[in-house]
Amino acid sequence: MIRNGFPPRAWIAALLVAGLAAGAGMAAPSLADAPHAAAPASLSMQLPTRRWVRYPAVPAQLSPQAALGKQIFFDASLSASGKMACASCHSPEHAYGPPNGLAVQLGGPDLKRPGTRAVPSLRYLTYTPAFTRHYYFPGSEDTEDEGPAGGFMRDGSIASLHEQAGHPMLDPNEMANTSRAVVIEKLAHSGYADTFRQVYGAQVFADVNKAFDSVGMALQAFETEDASFHPYTSKFDSVMSGNATFTAQELRGYQLFNNPLKGNCAKCHFDQPGPGGRPAQFSDFQYAALGVPRNPEIPANRNPRYYDMGLCGPYRRDLADETDFCGLFKDATLRNVATRSVFFHNGRFHTLDDALRFYAERDTDPRKWYPTKNGKLVQYDDLPPKYRDNVDRLDPPFLNHKAGEKPPLNEADIQDLVAFLKTLNDGYAAASGGPAIHEAH
Ligand code: HEC
Ligand code: HEC
Repeated sequence: MIRNGFPPRAWIAALLVAGLAAGAGMAAPSLADAPHAAAPASLSMQLPTRRWVRYPAVPAQLSPQAALGKQIFFDASLSASGKMACASCHSPEHAYGPPNGLAVQLGGPDLKRPGTRAVPSLRYLTYTPAFTRHYYFPGSEDTEDEGPAGGFMRDGSIASLHEQAGHPMLDPNEMANTSRAVVIEKLAHSGYADTFRQVYGAQVFADVNKAFDSVGMALQAFETEDASFHPYTSKFDSVMSGNATFTAQELRGYQLFNNPLKGNCAKCHFDQPGPGGRPAQFSDFQYAALGVPRNPEIPANRNPRYYDMGLCGPYRRDLADETDFCGLFKDATLRNVATRSVFFHNGRFHTLDDALRFYAERDTDPRKWYPTKNGKLVQYDDLPPKYRDNVDRLDPPFLNHKAGEKPPLNEADIQDLVAFLKTLNDGYAAASGGPAIHEAH
């Protein structure tokens, strides 16, 4: 079953461990090893200060592979247009997310060909697990199949960062090279061709496939080693390591985020430390169908027969027969989400406030979010009618709400959640989990 047993038994167990009473505020999870000294006493909620393991010291210097990967990442000459690099879509100034508010970026030989999905951030991908069709909570006695989890891309279709790196190079809507040989030919004439030979062997350019795979390995090394892909310098990290305190509003947002009967955000955007105490990733890498409205800004959507259904296709084909999976996309990490101006896989929303209002009012005020055709409301209009039942209606904040009911989160709640989400922006501290360098709100 996929996300339709609220709350799953393992989740209840976790809440009991955390000492949470349904509907009440939060108490410190058992992971807490000390009460948070600086938490404002007026707030009933105790902050779960934990032993926050700093990101392992970053290497003083990138490995030769990673240094090469960095050059490739920024090299626009490796595209058909000569103007597009990985960094054009994954902008380092925008947490390696899109540099603008376009729902989908323009690429191809003339930089006029639109893509079909919003560009995700490349930060915090390190702990993405391998894709599995059936996920079970580790160490849990619960044997319930949680459904699919893991994998790179919004549909989990790619198994590794090095494999992934080859795709944009050859995608006709992106860097648009017509073959691997074309990429390698360009690389062999680049200013760093000699470095490439030093790292991967004098004869590397003689074997196109080997050279192309090496490009992937170099990009993977850069994405894995360079601290800019996983800085953990947010205010949230500072608070969790005892170096800063939330404002009253941020704390209210944090509470709503974790309250399983209110925001319930943490169920999917998991905010507890991972194995070994590593900092929260804000995704559990599982999948859900949220029923995000169709986005007319995506040119592919002009074709009424075209639907991007995530796990069941059309880009991923191996699960095409698993119709329960139609409409499911990977839970996005929420780190740096407040720096974005395109939200969800189809970039349907352009402000964080609207993305959250959609969560609150999707089912209580559906006419606000979905079109009407011949006087009839078309709810969950970005899925073919036969798959609309796949949309999650059982996990709060959705929880069987009906049109006309009071939304589960009001505007003040939404503003509190936004204030909390802003604490997930990197750049608050100078070093991972370190002391605040400025009061950024
Ligand atoms: C034209 C814009 C564009 C360019 C150029 C581009 N990407 Fe992407 N990238 C995207 C989009 C859109 C997605 C999401 C696609 C999907 O989920 O199907 C993505 C996804 C990814 C992912 C998976 C992220 C995740 O959440 O699992 C990685 C890794 C990645 N890109 C790395 C790269 C690298 C490395 C390059 C350069 C070789 C590159 N990209 C070039 C647009 C681009
Ligand atoms: C049932 C699981 C689930 C719950 C509960 C949930 N989310 Fe999400 N969230 C997702 C999935 C899946 C996506 C990606 C969907 C897509 O791309 O279409 C997502 C995407 C988002 C995004 C857009 C991220 C981006 O980079 O585009 C935001 C913002 C967000 N969620 C915030 C929240 C907040 C705040 C809450 C609590 C009120 C919440 N979510 C509750 C599963 C969930």
